[in-house]
Amino acid sequence: MNAMPEPLRLPGLVDLHVHLRDPGQTAKEDFLTGTGAALAGGFTTVLDMPNNAVPVTTSELLEAKGSVARSRIVCDTGLYLGSLGEDLAELSDPSGLAWGLKLYLNRTTGGYLLDAERLSDVFLAWHGRGPILVHAEADVIGTVLAASRATGRRVHVCHVSRRAELEPILAAKADGTAVTCGVTPHHLFLTEDDARRLGPFGEVRPRLAPRPDVDFLWEHLDGIDVVESDHAPHTTADKEQGAFGFPGLETTLPLLLQAEREGQLTRADIVGKCALAPRTILGLPEQPDTVVEIEPVEFEIGSTGLLTRAGWTPFAGRPGFGRVHRVTLRGERVFEDGQVLAAPGSGRLLRPSS
Ligand code: NCD
Ligand code: ZN
Ligand code: ZN
Repeated sequence: MNAMPEPLRLPGLVDLHVHLRDPGQTAKEDFLTGTGAALAGGFTTVLDMPNNAVPVTTSELLEAKGSVARSRIVCDTGLYLGSLGEDLAELSDPSGLAWGLKLYLNRTTGGYLLDAERLSDVFLAWHGRGPILVHAEADVIGTVLAASRATGRRVHVCHVSRRAELEPILAAKADGTAVTCGVTPHHLFLTEDDARRLGPFGEVRPRLAPRPDVDFLWEHLDGIDVVESDHAPHTTADKEQGAFGFPGLETTLPLLLQAEREGQLTRADIVGKCALAPRTILGLPEQPDTVVEIEPVEFEIGSTGLLTRAGWTPFAGRPGFGRVHRVTLRGERVFEDGQVLAAPGSGRLLRPSS
């Protein structure tokens, strides 16, 4: 008789960079489907970005978003505030729901862009808890690092994709600048060749990179603090119209576990970058009695059976390892065998002030 292989057990994972599209674009995703996809992917905490249809740039909008989230979430969820650099008073004493401030310095989904000349003023205005998170590609990374150095504000650079971004970040870290950074699975596992193959379904910002840049990210993985999915769901119709972004919550863990099997990283790297470091960077509370049980099987990633409303993945056809069998959150069974068991609204809306 064949013994069943031992399940893998991991702590509840944290994704500090997701777009759940709620309120405003719930045809792409909402708080229920997005946090359900998180559980299906082994994540028990997600942090949601402010580039909603109406950018979440005031405490009032953030509290309103929180009310929507509170009734729908099935895993723990935190929110970020955004800024277009217009109303700096909003940044001095923000809503107690804000886990950080998100700024976009390059054009991406939502089209809300901050002029890099405004950066130091915005940095200085921020007196909320948590870091300033930036979408800052190679052309503006120097400005961001200089502003952090000049103002002393802590910065997290989202989705590093190229040597020209990571190299200055590593140099700034070595100089004692308060900067952390994250990488997405798509920038680790896909290249510009995949972008060509995938056509509109390969469009993402930052763009998928040439192989030498991807190799540089892998070679300097120790200097990258977190893996963040940048779960950016769009319907297939929206992708055909040119939308940027990939869903990622349900593919991050199987891609990383497969890479572990192939010797590209270790289990400690996965737990460090997908749980410990994001918790430390944001100061997130622990989740006692929380565990993800994973069936240790290899499978082919595909676009069927996903809980994200987007219903597709750019990783289709690649091998993944590990199927999330059961997720227990604070002692409650919240996900098992493809089904979300938690009731809508049973996740915690996290407040950094409490
Ligand atoms: C993200 C989205 O769709 O919200 N798109 C993307 O291509 N990454 C926005 C972002 O993170 O830049
Ligand atoms: Zn971005
Ligand atoms: Zn994003």
